[in-house]
Amino acid sequence: MRIVDWADEAEGGPAVVLLDQRALPHRTAHLHLTSVDEVIDAIRTLAVRGAPNLGVTGAYGVALAAHRHGTATPVAVAAVRAEAEALATARPTAVPLSLGVRRALAALDGGPAAVLAEARAVAAEGAAANHAAAGRTADLVRDLRPGRPLRALTVCNTGPLATGEGGTALGAILRLHAEGDLAEVLACETRPLLQGARLTVWELANAGVPHRLCVDSAGPAAIASGLVDVVLAGADRIAANGDVANKIGTYMLACAAARSAVPFVIVAPEETIDPGTPTGVDIVVEERGDDEVRGIGDTLVTLPGTPVYNPAFDVTPAELVTAIVTENRVWSPTPAASHV
Ligand code: MRU
Repeated sequence: MRIVDWADEAEGGPAVVLLDQRALPHRTAHLHLTSVDEVIDAIRTLAVRGAPNLGVTGAYGVALAAHRHGTATPVAVAAVRAEAEALATARPTAVPLSLGVRRALAALDGGPAAVLAEARAVAAEGAAANHAAAGRTADLVRDLRPGRPLRALTVCNTGPLATGEGGTALGAILRLHAEGDLAEVLACETRPLLQGARLTVWELANAGVPHRLCVDSAGPAAIASGLVDVVLAGADRIAANGDVANKIGTYMLACAAARSAVPFVIVAPEETIDPGTPTGVDIVVEERGDDEVRGIGDTLVTLPGTPVYNPAFDVTPAELVTAIVTENRVWSPTPAASHV
C-alpha cells in the first residue's frame, strides 16, 4: 500500500500521494496533493506522521516545489527555497523532517528530476535503515527470557505508517513474531490522537501479531505487574547525550521499566540522533491544539473551553534508556542502564 509516494504526470501528477492516516483504521483513503501548502497542511494535521515518514514527505514536498516552479531562474529557485523552509518547519520536534528537506534541496542544481531522485533515495535509504535496525533489535532482545517467547510493550506507532518500509520498534516486533519469538504485544492507546489504538493495532492485526490494547496509564502498571519483558519504542529526536524525545507517555514507561529492571529499548534510524541538540532540554517539544485533548474525534469529553496542556512529546533522560538501536549500532548512552 502506498503510504508516502510520488505521482508523475501519467498518474495526474506531479503530486505527493499520502495515505490519509486520519481516516484509519476504519477507512483507507489517499490524498493527491498538488501544492506545497497542501503538503504542509497534511503534515500539521497528521494525515502523514512519524519522524522518518515526515522526512520522506518533506523531500517529496521539495520535489513538488521544484516541479511547480522549475529551477531555471533565480526567482524560481527562491520560490522553491521559500516553500522548502516552510516544509522544514511545519512541525518542530522530529529531526528527519528538516533533514529530508535539506537533502532534497541540495539536489536543486540538477533540476526537478534530480530533486525527485533524491527524495526517492531518502525513502529507499530509510527502508534499508529500518530493516537493519529492526533486525538488530530482534537479535538483541530475543533471548531476554530463555525458554519462552517475549511479551513486549510499545507506545504510539512505529510501523511502516510512521517510518516507511520495515518499521522501527514495530519492525522489531514484527520480526520477533515472524521468527516465533513473540508471545504478545501490549499497545498503549496513545492519547490524545490514539496512534496506538488506531494505527499500531491496525498494523498488528494486519500482520496477525497477538496483541492487546491498553490505556496509557495501564502501561506502567503492566510493567510493574511483570507482564512486560521489554519496552520497544521509537524516537522523534535523540540528543547527542542520548536523551530521547518520543510521543507523550513514553517517559512514564521508561520510569516504570527502570524501577522493574525491564529493558527500555529505542529503535530509530541513526539520523534521529542529532549532534546539534546537546541534551534533552534543547529539544523543542511541539505543543498542539486544545481540542485534541478536549475531545475524542468529534465528541467533546470535557467542558467546552477548558484550558488544556497538550505537549505532543516528552523527553526520556538517557539514564533511563537501556539501548538505542540504529542501522549502525547498539548504543547505551549511560552504560549503567544497559541491562539487556
Ligand atoms: O505525532 P506523531 O504521530 O508524528 O508522533 C511521532 C511518532 O510516531 C512517535 O513519536 C514514534 O514513537 C516515533 S516516530 C516513528
